[in-house]
Amino acid sequence: MSDAPTPVEKNAFTLKDNRNGDTYDLDILKGTTGPDVIDVRKLYSETGCFTYDPGFTSTGSCESAITFIDGEKGILRYRGYPIDQLAEKSDFLEVCFLLIYGDLPTEEKIERFKTRIMYHTMLHEQINYFFRGFRRDSHPMAIMNGVVGALSSFYHDSTDIHDPKHRFIASTRMIAKMPTIAASAYRYSIGMPFTYPRNDLSFSENFLYMMFSNPCEEYIVNPILSRAMDRILILHADHEQNASTSTVRISGSSGANPFACIAAGIASLWGPAHGGANEAVLNMLDEIGSKDRVPEYIKKAKDKDDPFRLMGFGHRVYKNFDPRAQIMRQTAHEVLGDLGIKNDPLLDLAMELERIALEDEYFVEKKLYPNVDFYSGIIYRAMGIPTSMFTVLFAVARTVGWVAQWNEMIEDPTQKIGRPRQLYTGEVERDFVDMKDRT
Ligand code: CMC
Repeated sequence: MSDAPTPVEKNAFTLKDNRNGDTYDLDILKGTTGPDVIDVRKLYSETGCFTYDPGFTSTGSCESAITFIDGEKGILRYRGYPIDQLAEKSDFLEVCFLLIYGDLPTEEKIERFKTRIMYHTMLHEQINYFFRGFRRDSHPMAIMNGVVGALSSFYHDSTDIHDPKHRFIASTRMIAKMPTIAASAYRYSIGMPFTYPRNDLSFSENFLYMMFSNPCEEYIVNPILSRAMDRILILHADHEQNASTSTVRISGSSGANPFACIAAGIASLWGPAHGGANEAVLNMLDEIGSKDRVPEYIKKAKDKDDPFRLMGFGHRVYKNFDPRAQIMRQTAHEVLGDLGIKNDPLLDLAMELERIALEDEYFVEKKLYPNVDFYSGIIYRAMGIPTSMFTVLFAVARTVGWVAQWNEMIEDPTQKIGRPRQLYTGEVERDFVDMKDRT
């Protein structure tokens, strides 16, 4: 974050209390791009009122210089660079460097960064025993959540959040170890031995190697799949102040250690309205089963009395299109083409659902377009990744975003513990009633 204070337009906004005619002047804070924000920090002390915004639909929770989204125009940029350019020209570790340090690296810097990350890919050997405490049929997100939360008990030398060196080592460790944890969670669930990382491979190649190699055979990483994996990781790397990132920030705001904060982010990501949607999309497609049942499910999605929603459609911020979904759609077609998968009934079903939903008045009117998770699941399926691992892969990618946002928060001089208030609608004061007098 720059040292320069956010430009302020003093008293640019006037709030009037129509009950008594009092007026309050509020400042406007201006970012480099995107909507201005009204500074309401003194609102309570001056007016005695809180703001009310469940779901934070109109609330900026922090100042950030990492990721910019314009939901109306379908724009997503990391540190100013459009996501489509990064997906086409960059690789995941370069994007990690960009998100953390703010600029694209020189050749020398990226080599050093990659070496550092790859140096930390291995897990403390004791962690492999820790995995064995989980039931074999555990969901890999449950395992990942538990193991990441436990990292602070293994790496005591990187939990002092006020020491930049500790923060750097903790951040590096999490980016580096997440694929190893993810692959081990998967292998544990299918009874395969854990694989040690191979640091001569790229980040994505190593991940595929750890997931799919077999100790009895040579494993050669398919370059089409590793490139697609890298692209998926780039597209999921950060997304501004979404639920899991806000969770990481609010956990970290109390001074909690970074491993605990990332574990909190993983918990939030797991929900089907957030990162869990990619798994939910495939489960939904399985449930629909065949193309002729698509209209029935579209009808269910539109029915106010039915809680069913079309998974992989809609987004809190993108109201025209999700730029990640466009790249992902193209990647899905490339991967399926390159792998020679022509007649996948589930993919046909997905395309039919996409076609009908894009034409349907309800979805058009409410601006519900396919989001990134609609397509990522299809690519994962083509790669042979089981459905239960989809959200785990999202977590592997998003770790760098969480880490970058957490570091930015710690370095922000205006940072305070996150402590929202409420509109209380419970009982007013009443006296305790003795048991014998209760009805
Ligand atoms: N299917 C059917 N109706 C929907 C859907 C959907 N997928 N999404 C929203 N709506 C309707 C909703 O019922 C509401 O209708 P009404 O105004 O008549 O009450 C209207 O559209 C607005 O919905 P909302 O819940 O107020 O919108 P939101 O911004 O709070 O929710 C969302 C955004 C992503 C949670 C929601 O669209 C959803 O549940 N989608 C399915 C889950 C999904 O794909 N999530 C992945 C998001 S992308 C990955 C990520 O960034 O995490």
